[in-house]
Amino acid sequence: MDIKKVFENNEKWIAEKLAIDKDYFSKLSKGQNPEFLYIGCSDSRVTAEDLMGVKPGEAFIHRNIANLVNNIDLNVMSVLNYAVRYLKVNHVVVCGHYNCGGVKAAMQAADLGVLNPWLRNIRDVYRLHKDELNNISDLDLRYNRLVELNVQEQCVNLIKTAEVQEAYKERGLTVHGWVFDIHNGKLIDLKIDFPKILEHISEIYNLY
Ligand code: CO
Repeated sequence: MDIKKVFENNEKWIAEKLAIDKDYFSKLSKGQNPEFLYIGCSDSRVTAEDLMGVKPGEAFIHRNIANLVNNIDLNVMSVLNYAVRYLKVNHVVVCGHYNCGGVKAAMQAADLGVLNPWLRNIRDVYRLHKDELNNISDLDLRYNRLVELNVQEQCVNLIKTAEVQEAYKERGLTVHGWVFDIHNGKLIDLKIDFPKILEHISEIYNLY
């Protein structure tokens, strides 16, 4: 797509919105009240709002390479803090996707420069689940499974945070792990068991 087309598209989009509701933008400017925080991959094919049918104002969105929740990443931690403590979202979603380039890169023996420390998080996920993963001989299936396990571990990382633990006690906030199947467009719920994970990690990570 030609980048100059963006502004034409924007004018069209404005006209479409105003044709449906002439107060569309004045309503939008009044504030946001999203029900959930979505943490997904930056991959250009995984169009968060579009694939979920979510309208402006309905989801707080954070995207990075391979949908990681790293506790010393000020970016994701700030997004989480703001969404949970100020916007009062009731759901936090980690959404991975099959054919994730970040996950694939972490399965290879290669020096990727500044990406090394970022992708190290995924190598750590691999190490945690090495036995299960190495038992899958089909490399494509192993790759898919690592995508799922990466989502699961990022959910665990969320549950280790004070924001999530507090909001869970206070109002029953829930963490979800999803995978987007790029081959057919389906969103798959991995059905992460939040209370079980919290109980499992609470001996060490409990902040309350
Ligand atoms: Co990706």
